[in-house]
Amino acid sequence: MVGVDGRPIFIRPVKPDDAPLFTALFKTLSPTTIYYRFFGALKELNPEMLARFTQIDYDREIALVAIDEASQTDNILGVARIIGDPDGKTGEFAVLVGDAWQGKGIGSNLLEKCLSIAEKQGFKSVHGIVLQENRNMLALGKKLGFGTKSDPDSGENELTTHFGGNRT
Ligand SMILES: CC(C)(COP(=O)(O)OP(=O)(O)OC[C@H]1O[C@@H](n2cnc3c(N)ncnc32)[C@H](O)[C@@H]1OP(=O)(O)O)[C@@H](O)C(=O)NCCC(=O)NCCS
Repeated sequence: MVGVDGRPIFIRPVKPDDAPLFTALFKTLSPTTIYYRFFGALKELNPEMLARFTQIDYDREIALVAIDEASQTDNILGVARIIGDPDGKTGEFAVLVGDAWQGKGIGSNLLEKCLSIAEKQGFKSVHGIVLQENRNMLALGKKLGFGTKSDPDSGENELTTHFGGNRT
């Protein structure tokens, strides 16, 4: 449990029942937040995406949500995940915080917890693609110790962090 603006925020793994909460969160997102996370415009989460985001194979994926404990109804404020690559040694991260909750430490908290689990599970490194103009995510990555490789042609940056892991 962490506190944000004096409100208790609970971080827990994603479960299949969360699908309606993901739909509700998506409806609140600004076009910029959607673009930064999905690299394009997206009107809704279709059933395949919802299934992919909520039916987690925890053998190869880590997925955590931040929940507003003070709210009457369960409310997802943010989500972070690391999906293991086919090599079984590296993983790709993604993180998203609802617009109203950005800049309050939730994204850092979620991603830090995912990274700590990934390290314990023996991942060797975690990487992710971030758009050049996404200053907040680049700052978050720097704060959490990611190295950045930029590709001026694509306008994308690849962020990578390495662990001393030994995943086989
Ligand atoms: C990028 C994102 C995940 C960051 O999560 P967040 O909860 O807003 O970020 P945090 O509050 O944890 O901030 C982490 C760091 O990022 C920077 N930062 C984040 N939001 C900021 C803001 N609004 N203004 C200035 N700096 C900001 C700061 O360096 C901050 O560190 P600090 O608080 O020690 O100064 C969130 O803004 C988001 O969902 N953006 C849209 C989707 C996206 O870009 N996803 C990433 C693609 S994989």
